[in-house]
Amino acid sequence: MAGALVVYESVFGDARRVAMAVAHGLCSRLQVDVACAREAPMLVPSDVCLLVVGGPTHAFGMPRPSTREGAVRDHAAVIPDVTFGLHEWLDAVRLPRGIQAAAFDTRMDHPVLITALDHAARTEEKLLRRLGATLAAPAEHFLVADVAGPLVDGEEDRARLWGQALAELVAPHRIPVRG
Ligand SMILES: Cc1cc2nc3c(=O)[nH]c(=O)nc-3n(C[C@H](O)[C@H](O)[C@H](O)COP(=O)(O)O)c2cc1C
Repeated sequence: MAGALVVYESVFGDARRVAMAVAHGLCSRLQVDVACAREAPMLVPSDVCLLVVGGPTHAFGMPRPSTREGAVRDHAAVIPDVTFGLHEWLDAVRLPRGIQAAAFDTRMDHPVLITALDHAARTEEKLLRRLGATLAAPAEHFLVADVAGPLVDGEEDRARLWGQALAELVAPHRIPVRG
């Protein structure tokens, strides 16, 4: 089976839960690895045909050192290294030629006017394109009830279904392997 890699950043665990649910959906057709950005490979193996990346929305964009420091200071978050996350991984990683990709973010359920400004997943997509990946599907957004979560009811199921749909897009003819 071809492989998929899911790489996430998560401060309070919500984007991690989404990443795991997406991986669950993907594994119907693909062999899946999941890693947080700090532990993800800097050279993605050539048998990986799909890369899914995602993380929280911070200050309308992707987390960066100053917003991670803000999460520690203002929300008692525990972050082992505020200097490295998904953005920094995407700045440095090398991807195999021809890889497909998709992006997600987690965000608050703000009024539409404010969420329209959020661009975490848009920035992730921009970085993926810059790395030469082809976007397999539009980015997906998953809602949290508050800064430290939890995910809104039904979002993990939606993430699993999104993963399943992505697997069907990139591996349409593969027969699921059981056992
Ligand atoms: C410093 C900081 C800035 C944030 N800015 C935004 C924002 O601009 N828009 C938004 O929808 N949520 C914002 N949030 C809430 C995060 O989106 C929320 O903490 C995240 O989705 C939870 O995911 P996680 O548990 O994986 O960290 C912010 C949170 C923090 C800590």
